Amino acid sequence: MSRALVDAVDETALLAARAEFPTLDKGVHLISHSLGAVPRAARAYATQFLDEWENDSINAWGAWLPAVRSLGDTIGSVLGVDPGTVAILPNVSTVQAAVASCFTFNETSGPFKGRNKIVYDELNFSTVHYVWQEQARRGADVCVVKSKDGIHAPIEALLAAIDERTLLVPISHVLFRSSALYDAKRVIDRAHEVGALVLLDCYQSAATVPLALKEWGCDMACGGSVKWACGGPGASYLYIRPDLLPAMKPTSTGWFAHAEPFAFDMGPMRYATDVWRMIGGTPAMPAVYTARAGWEMIAKLGVANIHKKSLRQTALLREIVEARGFTVNTPRGDAERGGTICFDFDGADAVSKELSRRKFFHDYRPKCGLRVSPHFYTTDEELHRFVSELDGVRKGIAAGTINAPAKGAY
Ligand SMILES: Cc1ncc(COP(=O)(O)O)c(C=O)c1O
Repeated sequence: MSRALVDAVDETALLAARAEFPTLDKGVHLISHSLGAVPRAARAYATQFLDEWENDSINAWGAWLPAVRSLGDTIGSVLGVDPGTVAILPNVSTVQAAVASCFTFNETSGPFKGRNKIVYDELNFSTVHYVWQEQARRGADVCVVKSKDGIHAPIEALLAAIDERTLLVPISHVLFRSSALYDAKRVIDRAHEVGALVLLDCYQSAATVPLALKEWGCDMACGGSVKWACGGPGASYLYIRPDLLPAMKPTSTGWFAHAEPFAFDMGPMRYATDVWRMIGGTPAMPAVYTARAGWEMIAKLGVANIHKKSLRQTALLREIVEARGFTVNTPRGDAERGGTICFDFDGADAVSKELSRRKFFHDYRPKCGLRVSPHFYTTDEELHRFVSELDGVRKGIAAGTINAPAKGAY
């Protein structure tokens, strides 16, 4: 079978999944880097949660706690890690804070001894920066590596900044502003050379870029369900390399992180031996149920297939917008980019607002332009329709036949 035919067969299976996303009939959905489309099954799972609560009352926990573990395992299969190694937390900020709370930044023994330097780049997602920047008050030496062009992952500068004092490298695998993709293996290898750890934020890569975290020797990884995973808010994840776990003792903790939560023991904290030691309090069960549908769909379709289609459609989109003279702010190489094409032109902010009002869902970010993301459910026709609508809005605003939406209107 020719390669072209293999690709075509894969895309047929991916596009068939559109039937499971009634929302796709309500607009053109090119916003999966920010909010994935809701699968029909999410509603069924949410109803199942409510039914269990209503019918079984307190006994529902008998189904709910295994559901948390099962979601962790489904996510783990997408990340390329073993069952039982992924914990569910409400959001990435909480994950980062829990990890930060494992460090004192002045250890005199153990694996973190003599290390207080945190290294990442200035294109990191803001929430991650806020968490680590504030660790300076607790003794962290926070090193934020500059980017040369605001687009490409500044990998050489990052690798150069990782040294024997480095404790952790908390970076985004795919950068939210430009969709640039880090060579994670190179960063992990450099960190390990000097005894440092990597916390890879896979929010913008998992479910669209294939991951092999175990194979790469990644120490920790996190992300959420809101975007490419089509799982909605409230169900983020944290993976920790099992042999690292004994050293991870979060001070930001709670009873579900205890080895025996239902012993209500008032003695010294005894952490769970598995990754649940990171979760703190009661899991957000409704989010666990709604997130399940999206992750199951991603696992079923296969990220390798999704990625193949993403590479083809992002290249197509780039070609279409470049033909109009727009500036593309996403790296060109297949191995250098995630699932989004970012592009800019004069007046892009106003055009973007009008397009969103017309339900051509995408977004606009300063220093980047429009962010537009095909996903497994996107047709080529939708990409063409998006750009032709954009042409019309642009011409209309220039000619004064369409009122430019007020800045900051939404
Ligand atoms: C790379 C990345 N990390 C984290 C977040 C969000 O963090 P949180 O789950 O704390 O809202 C986003 C976007 O919302 C993101 O793009």
